[in-house]
Amino acid sequence: MNKEYTFFAPGRVNILGEHIDYNGGLVAPTVITNGTSAKVEKIEKRELEIYSENFPDLKTFKISLDNLEYRKEDNYTNYIKGIFYYLQKLGFSFNHGLKISIKGDIPGGGLSSSASLEILVCNIIEQIYKLNLSKLDYVKISVKVENEYLGVSSGVMDQYSIMFGKKGYLTLIDCNKLTHEYIPFNLENKTLLILNTNKKRTLQDSKYNERYNECMSGLKTLKQYININNLSELSISDFEKYKDKLDDVIRKRVKHVVYESNRMKELKTALSKNDFKTLEKLMSLSHESLKNDYEVTGFHLDSIVEACNEVGIYAARMTGAGFGGNAICIIDNDKMHLVDEIKKKYFEKTNIHASITKG
Ligand code: GLA
Repeated sequence: MNKEYTFFAPGRVNILGEHIDYNGGLVAPTVITNGTSAKVEKIEKRELEIYSENFPDLKTFKISLDNLEYRKEDNYTNYIKGIFYYLQKLGFSFNHGLKISIKGDIPGGGLSSSASLEILVCNIIEQIYKLNLSKLDYVKISVKVENEYLGVSSGVMDQYSIMFGKKGYLTLIDCNKLTHEYIPFNLENKTLLILNTNKKRTLQDSKYNERYNECMSGLKTLKQYININNLSELSISDFEKYKDKLDDVIRKRVKHVVYESNRMKELKTALSKNDFKTLEKLMSLSHESLKNDYEVTGFHLDSIVEACNEVGIYAARMTGAGFGGNAICIIDNDKMHLVDEIKKKYFEKTNIHASITKG
């Protein structure tokens, strides 16, 4: 048997700074315990032989490295194909193939299972083919796969945070400069919970691109009046001054970006002082803004956050793109008994059972 290599890439949650990455601001993700693993063997043929334990009904895909165009029917393997596709376009060649067996345990949407798979593949490629690319190069290639290969206008947060993330730290990413700093995420006597609404969605069929386009349209209008490169650079006072130049819908989207970017500044100060009260306030305001102004939460995410609020937990918000998937909350360790209460309330509202796990 050929030598077998094993790899792992985590998922991520974003604590604050939602829909800010493609608007050039700061975001605050951290990696979670769940992730995607792979067992990999080299094979002589220039082919990718891919199997996933998560999709037992799908066959083992056999994909020639000479034919890597996007094909809908290739399902999740498009994330893998896309990385090889762009690397070949950049002039890298692969003189042998790989047999890849995948297993992921990232629940639901919003925790970056796709970016986890992409970064996993980047790590596999770097270790096996030794292309000598930097981590940031791989992040950029993965984002290109999302934007151009799959047609989702997503930002850099997910791939960046998974590539550079460290457990126990927030990776505070400047999505304009593509730099980061680590901030200890010290929860002391509290726990981060992942609240899976079990309401499925994919970004390709969501309004994600619509939100991206709305932001770009708002930026274009505002640039006629003020010198900014992206919406995160807009101050609250300038937003208030020029907001009437925007139509009603675009104004709400820009408002979210401006105020959320501002909350990010407060977050940094709050975390440096372990000021949990402020973190709680910021998370709660973020959810409200994503609900009322950015309009990406939806019934299920709102219901689970409401359920948290009703039992007295306010450090709760959706995470990731929204439209279903997962929310997060931070709970005192001595209040863990409230988890059942949250589940009960969520079920009463939606008739769906939520799954709640530690982050
Ligand atoms: C998805 C995208 C990210 C980011 C978030 C929202 O996870 O992939 O780039 O825009 O949504 O913050």
